[in-house]
Amino acid sequence: MGTGALSGTVALITGAGSGLGAAFARRLAADGARIVVNDLVTEAAELTAKEVEGTTAVFDVCDSAAFDAAIDDTVQRFGSIDIVINNAGIAPAVDEGSQQRFDTAIANAMLRMEGRIGEMQPLGAITSLSDADWDRMIRVHLYGTFYGVRAALRHMQVQRSGVIVNVSSILGQMPSGGPVHYSTAKAAIIALTKNAAAETSHLGIRINAVCPGYIDTPLLEPITDTMRALVVNQLGMGRMGTAAELAELVRFLAGPESSYATGDVFTMSGGYTG
Ligand SMILES: NC(=O)c1ccc[n+]([C@@H]2O[C@H](COP(=O)([O-])OP(=O)(O)OC[C@H]3O[C@@H](n4cnc5c(N)ncnc54)[C@H](O)[C@@H]3O)[C@@H](O)[C@H]2O)c1
Repeated sequence: MGTGALSGTVALITGAGSGLGAAFARRLAADGARIVVNDLVTEAAELTAKEVEGTTAVFDVCDSAAFDAAIDDTVQRFGSIDIVINNAGIAPAVDEGSQQRFDTAIANAMLRMEGRIGEMQPLGAITSLSDADWDRMIRVHLYGTFYGVRAALRHMQVQRSGVIVNVSSILGQMPSGGPVHYSTAKAAIIALTKNAAAETSHLGIRINAVCPGYIDTPLLEPITDTMRALVVNQLGMGRMGTAAELAELVRFLAGPESSYATGDVFTMSGGYTG
């Protein structure tokens, strides 16, 4: 533990074995927070925990009892829970179907530019989505975030202090017509955040959402080079963000510098135009 502005605080970060979550852990630890690293993958959680001199809590955020137990255990061991970052997430599957839909979307864009609307083809992103894929996406993102907020508030309400940051997405604000289950879950996280903040803002608790644009993390590894080029083309700055850049925003929201922010939504997208 360092001696920075977060010294003496205890932070639990979900999905912190990789990408954004790991960067959040590093950034908060650099300013003195004690980090509890959650992930589904034990080795990943252990790697981050080693790096930030934190501890691990390996569980699936879809398991509400496990989430409750991890937060209870954190409070028992370290005396409080001051910061919870609900970050764990999964990407929409990239498979043969998504490649076909991508090709259709490109062809449709060309036809639209030429005014040939009647020739545009159905994308099929919704009609091809299975019950299982819809269910898993909503569970990990929305249920996982709800379980985290609820478990944290049970202690934060008693403490009368605490900060929660929920990781939504630019696609929760500006759905792209692609992964409907992802966008829907991320949009719902914004409503959950605002609702929870409205209920708790008089208790010294702050709850905000961040909406990253496209950030270069292992989450995006499955996308093809062409898809990547198209994504970058939608970014005013002409590049994806880095996890370290997002970590500066989350550090701001986790600390006293953001004392007037609650129920608010913070986008960082490098000029995403959709
Ligand atoms: N990378 C981006 O461009 C981007 C953009 C907007 C939002 N986000 C969101 O940021 C968050 C982090 O994404 P990332 O890019 O760092 O991805 P990542 O794949 O690098 O890391 C996600 C981590 O979450 C863990 N995880 C997945 N399901 C879990 C579960 N059920 N319980 C516990 N841990 C679980 C994974 O094991 C992994 O370590 C996600 O919620 C994602 O939707 C990412």
